[in-house]
Amino acid sequence: MTLLAVAGGTGHAGSAVVREALSRGYEVRSFSRHFPPKAAAVEGVDYVLADAATGEGLAAALDGAVAVVDALEVRGRAAQRAFPEAGRRLLAAAYGSGLQRAVMLSIAQCDQVSFGYYRSKVAKEQAYDGAKLPTVVVRAAQFHSLLAEVFAYGSRLHVVPSLPGAQMQPIDTADVARALVDAAVEESSPDHLRRTVSGPETKLVRDFAEEWKAAVGSTARILDLPVPVPYFSEGRNLAPGTAYGTTTFAQWLEGRRGA
Ligand SMILES: NC(=O)c1ccc[n+]([C@@H]2O[C@H](COP(=O)([O-])OP(=O)(O)OC[C@H]3O[C@@H](n4cnc5c(N)ncnc54)[C@H](OP(=O)(O)O)[C@@H]3O)[C@@H](O)[C@H]2O)c1
Repeated sequence: MTLLAVAGGTGHAGSAVVREALSRGYEVRSFSRHFPPKAAAVEGVDYVLADAATGEGLAAALDGAVAVVDALEVRGRAAQRAFPEAGRRLLAAAYGSGLQRAVMLSIAQCDQVSFGYYRSKVAKEQAYDGAKLPTVVVRAAQFHSLLAEVFAYGSRLHVVPSLPGAQMQPIDTADVARALVDAAVEESSPDHLRRTVSGPETKLVRDFAEEWKAAVGSTARILDLPVPVPYFSEGRNLAPGTAYGTTTFAQWLEGRRGA
């Protein structure tokens, strides 16, 4: 059976990737620094420990895989600065282990923001573009779950935060996972590809806030906050023509209610 490795397969996007790959009949090995809690472990996945920041366990984690999907995420400034180096270490190990392809999950339009968090994504993308093995960088729009988390967080203070005039194209991580597994298993030419995937709708953040309120029965007031970065205020977060996901935010909310 064909083995796919998932870096960060215990994380939010990574666990969607392992589910997608399993559903397509691939053997799946997830690696991260910690094992998932028992309740979150996906049956049939080989969970192993490896650290992309130090390189410890990487060769064993990648052994026998045809491709790796990198769904890593780090918290804190020092880890963000080290993020591109961790990517280079992962790519070197993947090349050394004879993998056919490495796929990185990145953020749509991340080169349009000067914050350190986004700069670290861009620097890691560049490492993928210069890798010795074929790579695909999949830039995804903001996840539905991120939007819902922000709304839920604000509602604890009795307001649902919105960004006046700003639009988003949020996407379900299950749709992102589909794009990542496609990229991992398809023949790619040229050797280093980039693509952007976003959700099926481009709407005002306020409209998504209304949908969230209706879905969870919130009576909190929608509060327009000043938009601190041109990424949102000037619509630089938007990538027209990249709709890929099929699940709308309202459908995703409905699905969670049923879960
Ligand atoms: N949230 C959004 O709206 C959005 C939109 C587009 C793209 N993205 C991108 O999607 C990616 C995944 O985000 P996420 O929210 O799914 O992340 P997450 O839930 O925080 O998961 C991160 C994963 O990386 C692992 N990890 C972290 N450091 C590691 C290391 N040194 N070695 C090995 N594993 C390590 C974590 O496990 P351990 O901690 O146990 O190691 C975990 O499995 C990020 O690059 C993010 O920028 C996010």
